[in-house]
Amino acid sequence: MARQFFVGGNFKLNPSTKEQSFALAEGLNNAQLDPATEEVVIAPPSLYLLPLKEKLGNGVQLAAQNAYFKVSGAFTGEISPTQLVDAGIPYVILGHSERRTLFHETSEIVAQKTRVALDTSLKVILCIGETLEQREAGKTAEVNEAQLKAAVAVLKEEDWSKIVVAYEPVWAIGTGKVATSAQAQETHAEIRSYLSKAVSPAVAAATRIIYGGSVTSANSKELSTQPDVDGFLVGGASLKPEFVNIINAKK
Ligand code: G3P
Repeated sequence: MARQFFVGGNFKLNPSTKEQSFALAEGLNNAQLDPATEEVVIAPPSLYLLPLKEKLGNGVQLAAQNAYFKVSGAFTGEISPTQLVDAGIPYVILGHSERRTLFHETSEIVAQKTRVALDTSLKVILCIGETLEQREAGKTAEVNEAQLKAAVAVLKEEDWSKIVVAYEPVWAIGTGKVATSAQAQETHAEIRSYLSKAVSPAVAAATRIIYGGSVTSANSKELSTQPDVDGFLVGGASLKPEFVNIINAKK
């Protein structure tokens, strides 16, 4: 079945000024994009979500980089899913490896956040991925399945239409060591096979599985030719003009 190509730009804690984020939005507004063929979502720092919402066009959507599993209350510093929906932000990235390692988010916490985000009508970019040590130990499939299993346990089949799975091998994030097309295809196929068994063949066929980890203009074309690579979640390169080339990788 045809799955719409999906490219996310995870700005992380960049850029440093609102004006710089406006310049990135301007670059996308002026780019040759076709929302009918590719879905484009950028995730700026949360402070820039509302200002960018006023600036962004050309079919480009916004995502928060995180959200809590409580929607209101005494949770200093957190971001509320309902407040994101109220602000007109349609997507949220959850389970990014930096949240898992630096902020100690377990797969169970990520699953809880996913459940609450979906309940508040957010769409979710759900990140999974193994470390180099786990890959070298032959545990890539086991690790990715364990991370997905926590979400499967709290989701209904119909929830998956609101989820994009982002496979981001930890050893490729920010390192310049991009997965080979063979590695990406093998792992995406394993993930899709797991979804088929754990949820349903229909969900497995429909769910977009995107790759993240040192994606650039130079490597995105070949990666995008892989049958189970449905797009990208881009970090560093999303802050550069080459991000448009990555969005148009299949053209
Ligand atoms: O979420 C995407 C990010 O983790 C990938 O970062 O800089 O390796 O493209 P980068």
